[in-house]
Amino acid sequence: MSFTTNIPQGLSKTDKYKQLLSDATHLVDEQVDIIANMANLSRLIFDYFSHHWVGFYRVNDDQLVLGPFQGPVACTTIKFGQGVCGKAWQEGETQLVADVHQFPGHIACSALSNSEIVVPCFKNGELFAVLDIDSEHFNQFDSTDRKYLEQLVSLL
Ligand code: SME
Repeated sequence: MSFTTNIPQGLSKTDKYKQLLSDATHLVDEQVDIIANMANLSRLIFDYFSHHWVGFYRVNDDQLVLGPFQGPVACTTIKFGQGVCGKAWQEGETQLVADVHQFPGHIACSALSNSEIVVPCFKNGELFAVLDIDSEHFNQFDSTDRKYLEQLVSLL
Protein backbone atom coordinates (compact mmCIF):
# COMPACT_ATOMS: atom_id res chain seq x y z
CA MET A 1 0.00 0.00 0.00
CA SER A 2 1.24 3.48 -0.66
CA PHE A 3 -0.27 6.54 0.91
CA THR A 4 0.75 10.15 0.45
CA THR A 5 -0.79 12.92 2.48
CA ASN A 6 -1.62 15.71 0.08
CA ILE A 7 -3.02 18.73 1.88
CA PRO A 8 -4.11 21.62 -0.33
CA GLN A 9 -3.30 25.05 1.06
CA GLY A 10 -5.99 27.51 2.11
CA LEU A 11 -8.67 25.07 3.23
CA SER A 12 -11.04 26.11 6.02
CA LYS A 13 -10.83 24.13 9.25
CA THR A 14 -14.03 22.27 8.39
CA ASP A 15 -12.76 21.34 4.92
CA LYS A 16 -9.44 20.18 6.36
CA TYR A 17 -11.28 17.92 8.77
CA LYS A 18 -13.47 16.54 5.97
CA GLN A 19 -10.41 15.62 3.96
CA LEU A 20 -8.60 14.31 7.02
CA LEU A 21 -11.58 12.05 7.80
CA SER A 22 -11.64 10.77 4.25
CA ASP A 23 -7.88 10.02 4.42
CA ALA A 24 -8.30 8.35 7.80
CA THR A 25 -11.10 6.13 6.52
CA HIS A 26 -8.70 4.70 3.94
CA LEU A 27 -5.79 4.55 6.36
CA VAL A 28 -7.33 2.81 9.36
CA ASP A 29 -6.91 -0.93 8.97
CA GLU A 30 -9.21 -3.01 11.15
CA GLN A 31 -7.03 -6.07 10.57
CA VAL A 32 -4.04 -4.72 12.52
CA ASP A 33 -3.21 -3.89 16.13
CA ILE A 34 -4.79 -0.63 17.30
CA ILE A 35 -1.33 0.82 18.06
CA ALA A 36 -0.61 0.91 14.32
CA ASN A 37 -3.81 2.84 13.64
CA MET A 38 -3.20 5.24 16.53
CA ALA A 39 0.30 5.89 15.19
CA ASN A 40 -0.98 6.75 11.74
CA LEU A 41 -3.89 8.87 13.02
CA SER A 42 -1.65 10.92 15.29
CA ARG A 43 0.70 11.61 12.39
CA LEU A 44 -2.20 12.43 10.05
CA ILE A 45 -3.63 15.02 12.46
CA PHE A 46 -0.12 16.42 12.94
CA ASP A 47 0.35 16.73 9.16
CA TYR A 48 -2.94 18.57 8.73
CA PHE A 49 -2.76 20.96 11.67
CA SER A 50 0.87 21.17 12.88
CA HIS A 51 -0.22 21.22 16.50
CA HIS A 52 2.44 21.15 19.22
CA TRP A 53 1.57 17.64 20.41
CA VAL A 54 -0.86 15.01 19.11
CA GLY A 55 -1.18 11.58 20.64
CA PHE A 56 -3.01 8.89 22.51
CA TYR A 57 -3.06 7.69 26.09
CA ARG A 58 -4.43 4.16 26.55
CA VAL A 59 -6.35 2.86 29.54
CA ASN A 60 -4.22 0.29 31.35
CA ASP A 61 -5.81 -0.91 34.61
CA ASP A 62 -6.07 2.15 36.88
CA GLN A 63 -4.08 4.59 34.78
CA LEU A 64 -3.58 6.04 31.32
CA VAL A 65 -0.35 5.04 29.61
CA LEU A 66 1.33 6.98 26.82
CA GLY A 67 0.64 5.58 23.36
CA PRO A 68 1.62 6.64 19.84
CA PHE A 69 2.21 10.38 19.48
CA GLN A 70 3.85 13.16 17.48
CA GLY A 71 5.69 15.95 19.26
CA PRO A 72 7.97 16.38 22.25
CA VAL A 73 8.45 13.57 24.77
CA ALA A 74 5.60 13.41 27.29
CA CYS A 75 4.67 12.02 30.68
CA THR A 76 4.13 8.27 30.52
CA THR A 77 1.29 7.71 33.03
CA ILE A 78 -1.76 9.70 34.16
CA LYS A 79 -4.08 8.69 36.98
CA PHE A 80 -7.87 8.50 36.77
CA GLY A 81 -9.29 12.01 37.19
CA GLN A 82 -5.86 13.68 36.98
CA GLY A 83 -5.12 16.45 34.52
CA VAL A 84 -7.17 17.09 31.41
CA CYS A 85 -6.69 13.52 30.13
CA GLY A 86 -7.72 11.93 33.41
CA LYS A 87 -10.78 14.16 33.57
CA ALA A 88 -11.83 13.14 30.05
CA TRP A 89 -11.49 9.52 31.17
CA GLN A 90 -13.43 10.13 34.39
CA GLU A 91 -16.25 12.05 32.73
CA GLY A 92 -16.29 10.17 29.43
CA GLU A 93 -16.57 13.50 27.64
CA THR A 94 -14.40 15.68 25.45
CA GLN A 95 -12.55 18.38 27.37
CA LEU A 96 -11.93 21.72 25.66
CA VAL A 97 -9.42 23.85 27.56
CA ALA A 98 -8.89 27.35 26.20
CA ASP A 99 -6.12 28.17 28.70
CA VAL A 100 -4.40 25.21 30.35
CA HIS A 101 -2.89 27.50 33.01
CA GLN A 102 -6.41 28.06 34.38
CA PHE A 103 -7.26 24.33 34.48
CA PRO A 104 -6.94 22.95 38.03
CA GLY A 105 -4.53 20.01 38.04
CA HIS A 106 -3.38 20.43 34.45
CA ILE A 107 -0.31 18.27 33.82
CA ALA A 108 2.27 20.37 32.00
CA CYS A 109 4.26 17.90 29.90
CA SER A 110 5.49 20.83 27.84
CA ALA A 111 5.93 24.42 28.95
CA LEU A 112 4.93 25.49 25.43
CA SER A 113 1.37 24.18 25.63
CA ASN A 114 -1.32 26.82 26.16
CA SER A 115 -4.59 25.16 25.11
CA GLU A 116 -5.71 21.57 24.80
CA ILE A 117 -8.46 19.23 23.65
CA VAL A 118 -8.87 15.68 24.93
CA VAL A 119 -11.30 13.33 23.19
CA PRO A 120 -12.32 9.98 24.71
CA CYS A 121 -12.22 6.89 22.48
CA PHE A 122 -14.94 4.28 22.95
CA LYS A 123 -15.32 0.72 21.68
CA ASN A 124 -18.59 -1.08 22.40
CA GLY A 125 -19.44 1.62 24.94
CA GLU A 126 -16.15 1.22 26.82
CA LEU A 127 -13.60 4.00 27.05
CA PHE A 128 -10.25 2.49 26.03
CA ALA A 129 -8.10 5.55 25.29
CA VAL A 130 -8.06 9.31 24.92
CA LEU A 131 -6.77 11.43 22.06
CA ASP A 132 -4.87 14.43 23.43
CA ILE A 133 -3.91 17.49 21.36
CA ASP A 134 -1.92 20.43 22.70
CA SER A 135 -1.44 23.80 21.06
CA GLU A 136 1.07 26.56 21.61
CA HIS A 137 -1.78 29.00 20.98
CA PHE A 138 -4.44 29.95 23.50
CA ASN A 139 -8.06 29.09 22.66
CA GLN A 140 -7.04 26.94 19.68
CA PHE A 141 -9.87 24.39 19.84
CA ASP A 142 -13.64 24.75 19.50
CA SER A 143 -16.80 22.76 18.81
CA THR A 144 -15.67 22.10 15.21
CA ASP A 145 -12.55 20.30 16.46
CA ARG A 146 -14.66 18.41 18.94
CA LYS A 147 -17.19 17.29 16.32
CA TYR A 148 -14.65 16.01 13.79
CA LEU A 149 -12.15 14.56 16.26
CA GLU A 150 -14.96 12.56 17.90
CA GLN A 151 -15.82 11.20 14.44
CA LEU A 152 -12.16 10.48 13.78
CA VAL A 153 -11.57 8.41 16.92
CA SER A 154 -14.74 6.43 16.24
CA LEU A 155 -12.79 4.88 13.31
CA LEU A 156 -10.49 3.09 15.79
N1 SME B 1 -1.71 18.02 29.60
C1 SME B 1 -2.19 16.66 29.78
C2 SME B 1 -1.03 15.71 29.96
C3 SME B 1 -0.55 15.07 28.71
S1 SME B 1 0.41 16.07 27.78
O1 SME B 1 -0.29 17.29 27.44
C4 SME B 1 0.98 15.32 26.44
C5 SME B 1 -3.13 16.61 30.95
O2 SME B 1 -3.27 17.58 31.70
O3 SME B 1 -3.74 15.57 31.16
